[in-house]
Amino acid sequence: MKTVFTTSPLEAAEFIKLGGVVAFPTETVYGLGANVFDEAAIAKIFEAKRRPNDNPLIAHVGRREDVKILVKEITESARKFIEAFFPAPLTVVLPKAKSVPLIATANLKTIGVRMPRNDSALEFLKNCETPVVAPSANLSGKPSPTNWQAVFEDLDGRIDCILQGETTEIGLESTVVDCTGSVPLVLRSGAITLEQLQKIVPETRPYKLKTGEAAKSPGLKHRHYSPRARVVLINRKSKIENRKSSAFIGFEVSQGKFDLVKICASAEDYAHSVFDFFRQCDRQNIKTIYCETIEEKGIGAALMDRLNRAAKI
Ligand code: TXA
Ligand code: MG
Repeated sequence: MKTVFTTSPLEAAEFIKLGGVVAFPTETVYGLGANVFDEAAIAKIFEAKRRPNDNPLIAHVGRREDVKILVKEITESARKFIEAFFPAPLTVVLPKAKSVPLIATANLKTIGVRMPRNDSALEFLKNCETPVVAPSANLSGKPSPTNWQAVFEDLDGRIDCILQGETTEIGLESTVVDCTGSVPLVLRSGAITLEQLQKIVPETRPYKLKTGEAAKSPGLKHRHYSPRARVVLINRKSKIENRKSSAFIGFEVSQGKFDLVKICASAEDYAHSVFDFFRQCDRQNIKTIYCETIEEKGIGAALMDRLNRAAKI
């Protein structure tokens, strides 16, 4: 398949209408989209990414009022979150409408819905004239793509079109909050923090898997966000043993020399840069990436979640 590159959201949307799969920018990471009602197109997403078919997709809308196309019911907590935040790096999980095919949700009766906060994404979605399901536009298991070059690296020749936009603003995937029960549960942390959600619905709490229980967010059990290199988490007091072909990302190099270094100006800058840094390390055959840990507040909670996953083999 020949992948078409375009900077026109209008042209990219035409591919969706024709049953194609299109990578597009959002404020979090690039997504790989297909028409939510087109089962054959959705199957192409799973194939292109080599995504396990038990991992559900998030549906993206260009207008708040389109959420209702996808769901059976907008629960009270979801309504509050949508009003307070959309468009935002936030996904609300709700009971799905009958019309949404089960391939989109990996056989779940619920669906994650989000309205991205990015002009190019919104123009693209409005022109698709249908909600668009989209996982991150990377090969499964690799770090999420934060620029179109990363999408190109993983998916050139495997998808119909890449909508070329800017480097993504946030760099980490959206917060996922399950709004189907009486208490909203945060399934995945992101730029919208637990504290921000609790300001709107005070009962909101993080979801903790009980032993023996099936994962509520199936994606969380898969290996994720990993570069080929070994990821080691350190703090300023850590002794670093092996420095052969190694790299560092964090705020301050306290000791030693590295082949590749990224000093971040803030937690936001760290989140914004980390996935691209992982990819850069892989291109340069770095063996070990030392990542400085950060305090789990604000975007720090989401960042530590991703770093912990990347460090876990
Ligand atoms: O920021 C984002 O959310 C990006 C951009 C493209 O919007 N998308 C993204 O998609 O990160 P993906 O597929 O890489 O991650 C989706 C996560 C997975 O962990 C999945 O299991 C969870 O959301 N998820 C999706 N639908 C769900 C549902 N119905 N119930 C529970 N978890 C769900
Ligand atoms: Mg992903």
